[in-house]
Amino acid sequence: MFSLLLGVLYILTPTVWGDISQRASLANNLASNGSGSPYSMNVTDCPGYTLGSLQESDTGLTAHLTLAGPACNAFGLDISDLTIEVTYQSQSTLHVKVYDTANQQFTIPESVIERPAAPTTSYAGNSDLIFNYDTTPFAFWITRRSDPGAMPLFDTRTSSLPPTPIPPFNASDASTAFDGFPLVFEDQYLQVASALPYGTNIYGLGEVVASSGFRRDIGTNGGVGTIQTHWSLGVSDPIDQNLYGSHPIYIEHRYNSTTGKASASGVLLLSSAGSDIFLQTPPNSKVSLIEYRMIGGILDFYFFSGPSDAEVIAQYGSVIGYPMWQPAWGFGFHLCRWGYHNISDDRENVAQMRAAGIPLEVQWNDIDLYHAYRDFTTDPVSFPGDEVREFIQELAANHQHYIPIVDAAIAVTRNSTDVYDPFTRGVEEDVWIKNPDGSLYIAEVWPGYTVFPDWFSENMLSVWTDSLKNWSDMGVEFSGIWLDMNEPSTFCSYSCGTGANFSSVGPLTDVSSVVIGYPECYNETLWGPSGNMTVNGTSTYSCATNSTTMTMIEKRGVGAGSEEGVDLNNPPYAIHNAVGSLNQHSLASNATYSGGYVDLDVHNMFGLMEEKATHLAIQSILPEKRPFLISRSTFPSAGKWTGHWLGDNFSKWQYLYLNIQGVLQFQIYQIPMVGADTCGFNGNTDEELCNRWMQLSAFTPFYRNHNTNGALPQEPYRWDSVANASRIAIAARYAMLPYWYTLFANSSMAGIPPVRALFYEFPDEPELFNVDKQWLVGSDILVTPVLTPGASTVEGILPGRGSVIWRDWYTHAAVNATSGGNTILDAPISHINVHIRDNSALLLHQEPGYTIYETREGAYSLLVSLNAAGTAFGTAYVDDGISFPPGPSRSLTFQAAEGTLKIDSNGEYEIVQILETITVLGVQKPTQVAIQGSPVEGWTYKEATEELVVSNASVGLNGQTILVWR
Ligand code: GLC
Repeated sequence: MFSLLLGVLYILTPTVWGDISQRASLANNLASNGSGSPYSMNVTDCPGYTLGSLQESDTGLTAHLTLAGPACNAFGLDISDLTIEVTYQSQSTLHVKVYDTANQQFTIPESVIERPAAPTTSYAGNSDLIFNYDTTPFAFWITRRSDPGAMPLFDTRTSSLPPTPIPPFNASDASTAFDGFPLVFEDQYLQVASALPYGTNIYGLGEVVASSGFRRDIGTNGGVGTIQTHWSLGVSDPIDQNLYGSHPIYIEHRYNSTTGKASASGVLLLSSAGSDIFLQTPPNSKVSLIEYRMIGGILDFYFFSGPSDAEVIAQYGSVIGYPMWQPAWGFGFHLCRWGYHNISDDRENVAQMRAAGIPLEVQWNDIDLYHAYRDFTTDPVSFPGDEVREFIQELAANHQHYIPIVDAAIAVTRNSTDVYDPFTRGVEEDVWIKNPDGSLYIAEVWPGYTVFPDWFSENMLSVWTDSLKNWSDMGVEFSGIWLDMNEPSTFCSYSCGTGANFSSVGPLTDVSSVVIGYPECYNETLWGPSGNMTVNGTSTYSCATNSTTMTMIEKRGVGAGSEEGVDLNNPPYAIHNAVGSLNQHSLASNATYSGGYVDLDVHNMFGLMEEKATHLAIQSILPEKRPFLISRSTFPSAGKWTGHWLGDNFSKWQYLYLNIQGVLQFQIYQIPMVGADTCGFNGNTDEELCNRWMQLSAFTPFYRNHNTNGALPQEPYRWDSVANASRIAIAARYAMLPYWYTLFANSSMAGIPPVRALFYEFPDEPELFNVDKQWLVGSDILVTPVLTPGASTVEGILPGRGSVIWRDWYTHAAVNATSGGNTILDAPISHINVHIRDNSALLLHQEPGYTIYETREGAYSLLVSLNAAGTAFGTAYVDDGISFPPGPSRSLTFQAAEGTLKIDSNGEYEIVQILETITVLGVQKPTQVAIQGSPVEGWTYKEATEELVVSNASVGLNGQTILVWR
């Protein structure tokens, strides 16, 4: 089996490096000695490269790199002839690409990720970043023009890297038992390392649920902090492992303790190869380092100069593409579960939500909708097409929406009488992924045996579009689509077998096992099995301990090489995939796509390619409207096509906290529409956890309650306290919709992250670098949720070290905050702390409605929070909230100083709703208030909050308005 696989791999990825006869003999050796490896498995002797044939141009340089000594063939065969291209892409972005001159290694096609065009202006002389290099051994380092003496932002020189050997994580782990960091470029193994300042702050490199928090662990003296593997994997949110998506981009937030100043830069390695990325600090070393180990592809680096964190993210967006425009309704509250068994369950939910007065924007269905778990079907008994249509049309009449699931796998027909057009049409049009021998690659997912779409096939888009279109025509008139299992996930390891007996495996029937387990402090003896924490009609939140149990999966440490059942030889360097072999739980790495691509190279992009195809399909089915998609597996540029949910979390307090780092990570990845399964997916939730979670998620972009099959129901109306908490939080969210919408417009137009870690806005305050229990919506709204059971207060930092006045969202009272440390805030059940920054002006909806449509129909209000100097500033972007491409828009700016608020308005879009109320916080009691020079009657003033309220301002927003108070 192994030699067959290897042979296939060689045929499909012919390479011309090194000596062909050597290659053949190595292959023979490998074939003959079975599991023995022909490779040295050791990079110590790798010779590195020498740079020659340098050609400089206006936009950068190109040169050749030749192997500087005998090949080491560490985990593959050395490629002797490389090309390096350096392009000053813009003032702030530098592109460094090293590839095999023969161009045989996998390179991400432009059709999958469109890259920026070559620059037409020369930035070589004035770019913020400078490319420096040594010719032999070849090494490069990147410096800032403004600070040439500082430690480089990226530095591959061996002399800069730690001199002492890096200890292996475990002596028996062959894959890490080496020292030195030469540049290695082999067919199946690439390695490059860069020095970083000791213990610096690194963020990104996921998708991951990191035990260290949002800030990645870079290790301490002699320690490995992080092994981040990139190999898309569909498992339930394990800690410190590879997960659904791969995002090889990081931000370094570098703090200079001498000057007290920080600046940020970023590095993207645009590669879909399976990889390990190490962050570590060797023993006695004065530096830390990042090391990339990849099992294929090329080295395609982009460097971003920042210097702010938000600018790094925006610069990254300018390379891979800014996030898609979101429809306004997408910001509403979404309700889902696995286990809405029929259309009556859906209707019941919609009715209960309305009866409880909890806004419901979108009702979702999971795979229960399907007939025999097959995509693009509805169950004829429980979800008859006509009833589904009727239900969705009722929703639409009430300005509500419907989203169904689409799994990546397509059921294979079981016999000749079995009719399933999406599959047979796909066979006719040759759009399914193949085995190396050309037969269909058979996987197993919910419907039994399945195939997977080959996104490289030229007919795939039309087959996919027609399947979605027919489904919609049959009654499933969706407003958006939920893409799942697209790592892609399968229950067979390797293919389930060519010629398998398709009639023997039908749809899985035992997927509804009873769920056990409750959140950490739930007392089942006291409260019974309902999740309801009420005794004799009284709510009791009696879990006084603030401790939570961490159910961590250990870091692998030993590496895949010593794991049982792992095929070490394919590929020779075994990345630290959480489940061992690359072929577990996933399409096997030898699966073959149109054009000769193999899964080994393109695995990490399956989700991205599905998202792009689905986005384009929805665009043609619902023309001129913005598609709405939420998907599980993502890759750089996925945000152009989809949003993301954080996958199968657990109904645990621990995961309530981990929710925050997930949302922050995906802002870096340019997939800002992100959120977690609110109240938790796996396991049973309880009243208190669900209460806190419904509130937390109301301040994250994607807001959906989703639950696993068989677990206790957790819709927000199930407990009075949760219903109450949800109404409060949703009212705040919907009031803030114009603010959210503006943040997302700025993200789609300029890549600026809507949700921010505190230090993005306060970069020079080191006490914030590790904060991931709070976040900022935009620059002006600070969220401090309760993350522990039994709490009635919460600790949080109000950043700015005393220079900022933070005012409470609900009461408008200024907080008496501790400078540079934690402040204890009241946080009774059903209350989430939300604070408004000073020097801000927020356009709000005055009266949140039941739906986003109704909310947007109502009047606006403006909340101005003055700073100590009496100034404020804000902007708003307003349009129709749905058109694609976006139609006319209007930009508003709000500026306050010296007792005057000026509203300027520009653009083509006519805002029909008036601005009814203007509230200004931080005002000394005025004697007169005037709008457009005319005195205003009926304004009010609240001494305690220094609050001027003009509740009858009633001005239009299509022209300039001037409000004066004296
Ligand atoms: C996967 C999804 C989950 C969904 C389930 C059934 O586990 O991540 O959200 O409910 O499949 O479709």
